[in-house]
Amino acid sequence: MKERIEAISKELEQLKADSVAAAEELRIRFLGKKGEVTQLFEEFRTIAPEYKKEFGRRLNELKNLATARIEEIKAAAEEANNSASASKTDLTVPGDPMNLGSRHPVSIARKDILDIFNRLGYTVAEGPEIEDDYHVFEALNFPVDHPAREMQDTFFISSGINPILLRTHTSSVQVRSMEKMELPIRVVCPGRVFRNEAISARAHCIFHQVEGLYIDQNVTFADMKQAILMFAKEMFGPETQIRMRPSYFPFTEPSAEVDVSCNICKGKGCNICKGTGWLEILGCGMVDPNVLEASGIDSKKYSGFAFGMGVERIAMLKWQVKDLRNYFENDLRFLKEFEANL
Ligand code: DAH
Repeated sequence: MKERIEAISKELEQLKADSVAAAEELRIRFLGKKGEVTQLFEEFRTIAPEYKKEFGRRLNELKNLATARIEEIKAAAEEANNSASASKTDLTVPGDPMNLGSRHPVSIARKDILDIFNRLGYTVAEGPEIEDDYHVFEALNFPVDHPAREMQDTFFISSGINPILLRTHTSSVQVRSMEKMELPIRVVCPGRVFRNEAISARAHCIFHQVEGLYIDQNVTFADMKQAILMFAKEMFGPETQIRMRPSYFPFTEPSAEVDVSCNICKGKGCNICKGTGWLEILGCGMVDPNVLEASGIDSKKYSGFAFGMGVERIAMLKWQVKDLRNYFENDLRFLKEFEANL
């Protein structure tokens, strides 16, 4: 028995297994019901009592050794198995594509408009969205009873002599620029504006405008026409034409509305331009002398022009977006269409 215990001990020292299954087979071979070590315990019952103590101890040591070795072998096989599967990773496979964000179409159009006027020498001026009546209406020559001042159009925050309100147009930044800038002034004023309107495909209570203002000596209507023509060609393509229709704004005299030739049917008439071949893009005019004087500018010496356009409208015409609400819903399927315009 002694020899067998020693032989098994030796064998255990040298054991190896290259898989978890092989390690399990070893466990059965030594420690299973009919295993070699278990067998020795069977035989132990029959040995003479005077040897029992010694062999009992040796057998227990053998069993402990066998258990520990087989555990060890099993853990090593598991470890080898794991690192083998890790090395199955193919490092040359291309990575998953990463979704890049894109600019919102209103931001793209706003940037395009500002870039064009920057090239003409206009700098950007901004003003507060929460304004007072003076800068939104009074200084811009709005008569006291002008409908734009009424509750239906304007979100008022306070009442009284010079009420606080949400600006209904960025023309208020014209006034702020005239108050604080040195002449000549050449600015474009982008920003959010607010009107108390029911939301539909063509109207929203929040939208964006870019206002333009140029004041210097001897500024004429022809200068204005040239600046707007240049803008239209840059924005909608070099073959774009413009036409001006007489209009009225309290802050300009004379005033005009500007149309561009429809860039879809090239002026022939389609359902986007409702068969007219023209699309309205902005309002403009020569700054009314009352407006210059209200901000302390000598209207005998200086003249200027102003224009104002809706950014959503320009973007709608440029990319043929039919429903204004698309701009506010942030449906990714819509936004993703503008990825290429970054
Ligand atoms: N403020 C006008 C509006 O919100 C747009 C506008 C028209 C601005 C003519 C101008 C202008 O500066 O000259 O509808």
